[in-house]
Parts: sequence; C-alpha cells; structure tokens
Amino acid sequence: MSLTPPPDQDIVIFGVSGDLAARKLLPALYNLSAEGLLPRQGDIIGAAPVAWSDDQLREGARSAISQFSRTGLDEAAFTAFAARLRFVRPGDEGGLASLREALTRPRRLIYLAVPPSAFTSVIDALHAADLAAGTSVIIEKPFGHDLESARALNAALHAVFPEERIFRIDHYLGKETVQNIMVLRFGNTVLERVWNRDCVAHVEITVAESLGVEHRGAFYEETGAIRDIVQNHLFQLLAMVAMDPPVGFDALSLRNEKIKVLRAVRPIRPDQVVRGQYTAGEIDGQPVPGYREEPGVSSGSTTETYAALRLRIDSWRWARVPFTLRTGKRLRQRDSRVVVVFHDVPLHLFSGTGIESIDHNRLEVRVQPDEGIDLTFVAKRPGPDLETQTVSMDFSYGDSFKTSPPEAYERLLHDALCADHTLFIREDEVERGWEIVEPILRSPPAPVFYPAGSWGPAEADALAVHGRWHDPSGT
Ligand code: BG6
Repeated sequence: MSLTPPPDQDIVIFGVSGDLAARKLLPALYNLSAEGLLPRQGDIIGAAPVAWSDDQLREGARSAISQFSRTGLDEAAFTAFAARLRFVRPGDEGGLASLREALTRPRRLIYLAVPPSAFTSVIDALHAADLAAGTSVIIEKPFGHDLESARALNAALHAVFPEERIFRIDHYLGKETVQNIMVLRFGNTVLERVWNRDCVAHVEITVAESLGVEHRGAFYEETGAIRDIVQNHLFQLLAMVAMDPPVGFDALSLRNEKIKVLRAVRPIRPDQVVRGQYTAGEIDGQPVPGYREEPGVSSGSTTETYAALRLRIDSWRWARVPFTLRTGKRLRQRDSRVVVVFHDVPLHLFSGTGIESIDHNRLEVRVQPDEGIDLTFVAKRPGPDLETQTVSMDFSYGDSFKTSPPEAYERLLHDALCADHTLFIREDEVERGWEIVEPILRSPPAPVFYPAGSWGPAEADALAVHGRWHDPSGT
C-alpha cells in the first residue's frame, strides 16, 4: 500500500447501519485513519434510513471497531477518527438534499453498502441531487443477479458515471494472498516455464467456509453459492491463476489479461456442475441446523449452499487442463486454497522397488487461513531400502513476515480513494462472469444434500480429477 494519504475528499457510506459497515467498512476506515492513510481533509458521512444522530453513529462505530478491528481500538486514534464522522438520513422519498449539505469537499467516494435491489435508486437519487460530478462509487457484489440485470446495472451506472469513477469491489482481490499469486507467478522465473499444459495436470480452487448463512438467510435464498461466490471470488481466483503475464502492473494491463481467461472458459455442461445444500450436522463437535431450518429460509428451499464445477479454458496455455472449482458453507473447516497439480513423471524408475505410485508434485497456495505456499515433492526416505515419501517445502506468512496483513477492505478502500482500479472488476469481467454461469442459473441441476461438517456432497467427487479433492486433512 502506498504510504501517502489520498487526495482530499469526503467518504460516504450508504447503508452505514448495516452489517458490512459494522464488520468491515468502519474498522477498515479506522485503521486507515490510525495509519495516516485517509485523506487529510474530508469527513466520513454515514447515510441510512434510521433516526441516528452523529453521536449515535460514533457510538455504533466504537462498538463495531472494538469488536471487528484487527488492531482493536486505541482511544486516541478513535477520537481522531470519530471527529470526522457525521450522520445523514436521506429524505423520505430517498432525496439527498441532507447529504449535499453535509459534504465538505468538491470530491467524494461513495460506498453503496446497500442491498443490490437498492443500487439503482441510490444512483438515481445521486443524479437527481446533482451529486454525480465529483463522485466516485464503490458497488458491492453481487453485481446484478444474472447477465441481464448486470447489463442493466452497468447501463444505469454509465448513465450517471464514467467507467473510471466506478469501482466494482470483490474483496478477494484485496487479500494479500490473492495479490501474492501475481507476485509468485510474475516476480519469479521458475514458475512461468512450468505454468502451462505441458507441466500442469490440473488445477483445483476451493473456497470453503465452516460458517452457515447466519442471519443472512433471506438474502441467501435469493443468491446461493453460485451468485455469492462462484461468479465473483472463484472466477477472480481462476483469472489470477490462469492469466498470461500482463505487460505492466496497472489496471488496464491486468484486467485485459484477466478478461482473456474468462472469455476462454468453455460453455459449461450440466453434468459438469454439482449443486448441494447442507443438512443438520456437527461443526467442531457442536450440532448445527440444516440450511432449511435457518431463519429466513423456506422449508422447501432448493437454493444451493455448495457448488462444484469442472471447467476448461480453451487457450494455448491451458488446452485440455481441467480446472475444478468448489465452494460451500458449513463444510468441515474454513479453507480457501489453490492447488496446482503437475504431471506425473514420464517414467516410473522406482516402480520395480515395490513403490506402486508416486505422488505428483503439487503447489498449494493457502489463501486462508494459515496463509502460505506449499510445494510437495517426493524424497527418498533415509534407510538402506529405496522407499519414497512425499514431503513439502512450506512458506508461511506468519513465520516469514511476523506481521498481521491489512484487511482486504483497507487496501481496497485506500486504492479507490487514490482512484486506482487495479484491484477492482471491470464491466466486461463482471458480465462475462455472469455469462459463464448463465446456463446453470437458467436450468439449475437439482441440489443434492450433504451433512454440515462434511466436505460436501459425495456427488461432487465425480467432478474432481481422479475422484478426490485435495482437502486440508491431506486426503
Ligand atoms: C462474501 C460472501 O462475499 O464473502 C459471504 O457474501 C462469504 O457469503 C464471504 O461468507 C467470505 O469472505 P471471507 O473473506 O471470509 O472468505
């Protein structure tokens, strides 16, 4: 992160009374403030249709920061931060005269932390209040709920804002480990030569969560794992892993390469997708309810809480290399990782020695938790016999850097304040993401069930290469 404060501007959070503001945005802004990385001049204005005062917003921010900030709350730092906080309530018709009066600078960054259904009305209200000039907007995901609605949302945004003032956020791109995929690939010489169909047998990408839908049942009923994670987080990880080297580390070069990958994804066939839904089970020894028993969820819901896909990328680099992607809630443990599995050796020199099979080399990027990178290879076990064993070279962020990385939202808010689009999603990327999943959304395969605390439905094993996924337990 550049260590200079961004240009002077106000920051406005629509939906400041919501969950995202409390868990992520206010703690991230507080940490940026504590590190001197907010604009020197400008207020932080929270907007929401609730009867709050400035002081109530400050009290809410105090409790959110104490609970969710990675650094806790320091009184002096909080006092300086809180002095910049203001609250405005939009008019009953959603009018924004109150916001216009509260602004202190000619320029502002507006974060739309509101439900997707409210995006266009806020955009229209900004336009009606003559606030479009000088405004940049950050839009949360999901960006639309299918290709058509994403195109409509892009059109509504473009009617008011030029593309260079639109920031479509996918917080996975703000994660240190995800940015490090680029540094690993393009800051080292050894990998590029093997990063292709000649050496790679297949690639597996997992975003696993042990949490359920928590209090977001009603939202999740409309969303499901494909819209919530596959279309955005998983496809962004896929693009980072599969893209060609960009000609520069800037927004245009990087996003041009990412869109090439997404464009090369072959249309998905129904038999290459498994949708699953969790039933009651146990996580960490504690009983947890099934998805259909969660608050806000219909008892006959067919929404998927798990999705697995097998994709092909039709490019010279990746022809015939399967990419398997999966995500799920209430899986055995939280674990996001990319596993690159290399081809088998061409000749099994040690096969006459009773060694039946030799593990393929594997490079694993542990996105979270226990962030790190692991390269596995086969070694001779010490002793008079020729016995082999798979061992690994392990890099761990915690051990090497001994510092807690900034939260994804800190990085991304700072970038947006500096008008840097490198880690934001371009219009064509978001639309192509929807295009890829469109056949599944149009005729979704019926969900199959998996018990909470498992690694997902058994049916998904058929999609994994050799019928098994690389779970952290080592299976
Ligand atoms: C969000 C999804 O985008 O990402 C949530 O809406 C999910 O359903 C979350 O829990 C996961 O984020 P992280 O950073 O905890 O992996």
